[in-house]
Amino acid sequence: MRVHAYAPGRVNLIGDHTDYAGGLAVPMAIDLGTTVEGEVGGNRVILRSRQFDEPVDLPLDVGDPRAVEPAWGRYVAGIVAEMQPTVGLRATVDSTLPVGSGLSSSAALELSVALALGFEGSGRELAVLCQRAEHRASGVPCGIMDQLTSACGVEDSALLIDFSSLDVTAVPIPEDVEIVVIHSGQDRALASSAYAARRAQVEVAIEQLGRLRDMPVEEIDALDDPIVRNRARHVLTENSRVVGFADAFRVGDLRCAGELMIESHRSLRDDFDVSTPLLDVLVTRLAATPGVFGARLTGAGFGGCAVALCEPGALGDEGWIVRASGAASVDHLGGPDQPRA
Ligand code: GLA
Repeated sequence: MRVHAYAPGRVNLIGDHTDYAGGLAVPMAIDLGTTVEGEVGGNRVILRSRQFDEPVDLPLDVGDPRAVEPAWGRYVAGIVAEMQPTVGLRATVDSTLPVGSGLSSSAALELSVALALGFEGSGRELAVLCQRAEHRASGVPCGIMDQLTSACGVEDSALLIDFSSLDVTAVPIPEDVEIVVIHSGQDRALASSAYAARRAQVEVAIEQLGRLRDMPVEEIDALDDPIVRNRARHVLTENSRVVGFADAFRVGDLRCAGELMIESHRSLRDDFDVSTPLLDVLVTRLAATPGVFGARLTGAGFGGCAVALCEPGALGDEGWIVRASGAASVDHLGGPDQPRA
């Protein structure tokens, strides 16, 4: 049976390092993504990539995904280990997402492979499975934002996600606005970064204070460790900025939305310490460009991309202009239930 699966990457407009704290964010699925196209059958998963030279060739009873070579195959192995499929796949993977820039190329690969391998279930269930696969593949205890955004994308809308319930609400993107993603020139190395350390610090704060939401910011004074206090301040204030941003988007107040993005960047830089000098310079320059409402680093930080909210054309041909796209999807062609159209 032939299969064609597609999963978008994502850009996060606001709300970083809040997902694993049961907080809030407003990401959107973008019109760059990953396609898996081929034939279901056999007892191995054999994938060629248009971006990487070496193919991936795995048995269905794959061992430790982290031992798989080439490295891009680890995400495939993570999915195979989670799904334990009884039938294999021979397919080609193609992606328009730049790798290592923080636009969730790994989540898009996970979702497209899971769908091609026959995943059945809700978008939320798909996201949970793919997040577990990512943990197995990379060893990084990532949250679920990337996978959930790819699984639940809505055309022309950003998504307000509440990570305490995994509820996703579409927030239409105002008219006459452009969302541009600009690479800082420094690739992100999430696995070797301090992501896990940040998450652990946030967990210490949650243990002592409870949910880092809807409480006065003074409550963080109860935390003894100044670093943990800073991390908690970021999460708490970022959650309020997300609420303000979604409200501003709903009424088309782009100035307010942009201001909140700039505050978010400051907080990620000063309190959460995940920015880099290159990202700071980039965000400062973008924010000072006429027609730009706001800009910030997007995703985990430690390199990667910034996102800017601007008037159409304000940044010329710099970066990628991205549009909000729909959710990951799959077509089975020529199978017994769904005859070729
Ligand atoms: C990475 C993780 C996400 C999220 C962001 C930061 O993209 O995969 O789960 O934590 O960093 O917001």
